[in-house]
Amino acid sequence: MKITRIRVPEFRALKNIDITFEPDFTPNIFPLASLNGGGKSTLLQLVFILLKSLDANSEKKNIKYIENLFDFFSYPIIVQGSRVIAQLNIEDELVEYDMEFTFHVGKSIKSEDGNYLKFSPTHYYEYDFSIFQQKIEIQNKIDKTLQLKEKKIQEQENLKSAMLSNPIDIKNINKHLNKLITEQTEILLKENVLRQKLYEQKDVLIIAYFSKDDFLNILTCKLSIKSKTPKSININIDDSLGKIAKNIFLTMPSTQPILFLDRHQKEMLFQDRFDEYQLSLKEAKKYLQGFFTYSFLPVNLIQSFFDKVFNLDIQQAIETKGEYGNQYKQLIEQMNCVLENKIVNISPDRKTINFEMEDENGNTRKLYPEDLSHGELKRLSIYLWLKYYDIKDAVVLMDEIEIAFHPDWQYQIIRDLQEWGASNQYILATHSYELCQALTPAHVKEISPNLLPSQENES
Ligand SMILES: Nc1ncnc2c1ncn2[C@@H]1O[C@H](COP(=O)(O)OP(=O)(O)OP(=O)(O)O)[C@@H](O)[C@H]1O
Ligand SMILES: [Mg+2]
Repeated sequence: MKITRIRVPEFRALKNIDITFEPDFTPNIFPLASLNGGGKSTLLQLVFILLKSLDANSEKKNIKYIENLFDFFSYPIIVQGSRVIAQLNIEDELVEYDMEFTFHVGKSIKSEDGNYLKFSPTHYYEYDFSIFQQKIEIQNKIDKTLQLKEKKIQEQENLKSAMLSNPIDIKNINKHLNKLITEQTEILLKENVLRQKLYEQKDVLIIAYFSKDDFLNILTCKLSIKSKTPKSININIDDSLGKIAKNIFLTMPSTQPILFLDRHQKEMLFQDRFDEYQLSLKEAKKYLQGFFTYSFLPVNLIQSFFDKVFNLDIQQAIETKGEYGNQYKQLIEQMNCVLENKIVNISPDRKTINFEMEDENGNTRKLYPEDLSHGELKRLSIYLWLKYYDIKDAVVLMDEIEIAFHPDWQYQIIRDLQEWGASNQYILATHSYELCQALTPAHVKEISPNLLPSQENES
């Protein structure tokens, strides 16, 4: 998958952005340059969240991140109406997608019967959007009931010997649960009808939610799909969008404010509450798969990586009746290559990792992860991230990639990315001259301060 064009009329610091990423450029790595505050981080985060939101299955999990990103749209400056946020062109081997993301803000109007909510002022959508609120509410009720059931079962287990258990409780909970699930099914059916109606207008409804002040916020994506081959192909929209959402990745330093966290979480960064900020990041990573921060060496990730390759090697031995695979050997060799002058060791119980290096007198020294330099840790963690998650045929957005790297490694990182994940497209927000030098000038995409409105906007 590749992004071929990004257009953003106006979003925070971004004005009249129109950047083309040539899909046939080799390597498919594009530095994104601008002055400080030019909007690089904003652009990467916007693209990531928009594409991530296309996954229909993750609507509940992603809603708060979308809400946070568009926070300022709805409040405090309430702008009612529809606004194009971005146009993204994406292609894979078979198809080209042209996507126009529009954010609609409106006041919900209660109809006479009291439960039909019209969306004003656009009048474009005259459907009952209240089902999205109901959908969230019913899911919350189901989650709570399931938790209660779990608690009751646990209590009964504990009290069994004392003969104090009350099976009626669980029966009632199950009855209530069934009722909620029936209600949920009805809501989901209504939602499908609504989505279908919108889809007839070539709009994919990504998300609809009510803000605290009862404004209705809707994010839609007008979609046009073109086949790249003369043969017509059958495309399942949900599957295709889900695939795009799965193939977008973002990584950035953990010390910068992240736009899709909520205001309260972002404030922690400025209040010496870094631990709490880190917890928010951890939660975001859990829900937004594909989001990472350059961590110091993630030792637990290395351990699971070793487990993964050990198992693959054993699996191969089973399949071939005795021929063990060499994935473990390859991983060790590649990690040694990344670290250049150090050798990776894992203890027999696979619990600790250390590194061996030869000092100037030819003696072997043992080092632990905390002994490695910031740049070494970062380089190794990027390598492990791409390899462990098997990131292939994806779009990888990387912010501040050069931090902690000597100019030689800033130059080298282009070759590294090519070697570690050649089938990916990389968009790298950077200030590094050396990094850009490793590519042609045409690869470098600049966000320049756009002081004049574009003609397109004026018309
Ligand atoms: N609502 C907003 N409207 C317009 N501009 C905004 C808004 N919120 C923040 N900004 C501006 O956006 C800029 C932040 O942009 P961003 O972090 O994307 O820049 P950057 O190119 O990544 O910079 P750096 O190279 O320093 O990391 C800041 O200059 C900030 O003043
Ligand atoms: Mg930035």
